[in-house]
Amino acid sequence: MSPNPKTYAVKSFGCQMNVYDGDRMAELLAAQGMTAADANEADVVVLNTCHIREKATEKVYSDIGRLRKDGRKPMIAVAGCVAQAEGEEIVRRAKVDVVVGPQAYHNLPDLLAKAARGEAALDTDMPVLSKFGHLPARRRVPPSAFLTVQEGCDKFCTYCVVPYTRGAEVSRAFAAIVDEAEALVDAGAKELTLLGQNVNAWEDGDGRGLDSLIRALDRIPGLQRIRYTTSHPNDMTEGLIDAHRDVGKLMPYLHLPVQSGSSRILKAMNRSHTRDSYLRVLDKVREARPDIALSGDFIVGFPGETEADFAETLSLVDEIGYAQAYSFKYSPRPGTPAATMPDQIAPEVMDERLQRLQAALNRDQEAFNLATVGKRCSVLIERKGKLPGQMLGKSPWLQSVHLMTEAAIGDVVEVEVVSGGPNSLAGAAS
Ligand code: SAH
Ligand code: SF4
Ligand code: F3S
Repeated sequence: MSPNPKTYAVKSFGCQMNVYDGDRMAELLAAQGMTAADANEADVVVLNTCHIREKATEKVYSDIGRLRKDGRKPMIAVAGCVAQAEGEEIVRRAKVDVVVGPQAYHNLPDLLAKAARGEAALDTDMPVLSKFGHLPARRRVPPSAFLTVQEGCDKFCTYCVVPYTRGAEVSRAFAAIVDEAEALVDAGAKELTLLGQNVNAWEDGDGRGLDSLIRALDRIPGLQRIRYTTSHPNDMTEGLIDAHRDVGKLMPYLHLPVQSGSSRILKAMNRSHTRDSYLRVLDKVREARPDIALSGDFIVGFPGETEADFAETLSLVDEIGYAQAYSFKYSPRPGTPAATMPDQIAPEVMDERLQRLQAALNRDQEAFNLATVGKRCSVLIERKGKLPGQMLGKSPWLQSVHLMTEAAIGDVVEVEVVSGGPNSLAGAAS
């Protein structure tokens, strides 16, 4: 272990909130005078982990093994949701130097210093939002930047670890968010994605909801696009749905996880919405913004899921026509109620259902992409493409678009969509 580390690497896994946290940890280490390096060479490696499914958790341990290959001994800090869930167990099992939870990572520099002195360095406290007040100003900002506005979850879906790893629902203060948004735009952000485990549960003491925040950000000159994720169906308020009609900068895209099309399974999941109430929310959203692209999350093989329940998931998918969606095999997580429910589903049944679901979702995604061909839309240029003169960006509906253009990264250009495939569109600048 290097007593005086000079280089760092941060590797983030899991959701976008972890990406945001990972960037903030990198900024903290840079503010200590350290420079970024490849994970295979850095003196300090931060693994910013995800606990959502078993595979994600196991990855941490294989990664630690890989970092120590060939006798290398970097300082290893485990951050993120596995750190929160397993705490000292990680130190015992993998002898890492630092363990720091998602609400405590502003203490990372102190913990690294402690570890360098040979002291135990573990911090999984959950002080309410204090980390935000201790983070340095942002330095490198991409055209499309994340901004965490809400953390934690009180919903306790029976399969999910997030309420345990991220703690209770907490909203950041209105003014702090607007300040950070302005700073991000000053530093070059053109698009902001507001993040929260239940972002649409954001509220402040004055009874304002996420729609008020979106309307305030809409007034920031220079900001061109606003997005938010991830939402819960029960927190889709009238105000937020109206914002999709009224706020020009709010992009026509909504990620609204449903998990299952069977109300019986939704009840067992403690989702607190039904198939019908979910569909009614989407009807209202589509009424407010007819061209909205819909996205969702699905779990197949929840304990007790019958073929008839699964058929309801497939029929829900047919009814909605998602532009894009994520689907997962159920993974039993330690400490969650579903892990000890009877009728756990056999892995081969889950595999087969996941294949059928993904075939349907892929079909709809391609259909959605093809339906945009011939339309004109804006594209925010985010990076260079593989070919000379080619640039890559995103449509308002969050599709990847490639085009030949002289426009620079961060420009918003008007294009005509000339062709579409399963995963991307080709545009022509117009
Ligand atoms: N707060 C968000 C996202 C939670 S995690 C929400 O409620 O939608 C992202 C997704 O991971 C979930 O939507 C769910 O589809 C999936 N997921 C969570 N726990 C899981 C588990 N135990 N097994 C499989 N997938 C899971
Ligand atoms: Fe997990 Fe449910 Fe909370 Fe989403 S709403 S984070 S799935 S407990
Ligand atoms: Fe994973 Fe934690 Fe996000 S468990 S999905 S990194 S909130």
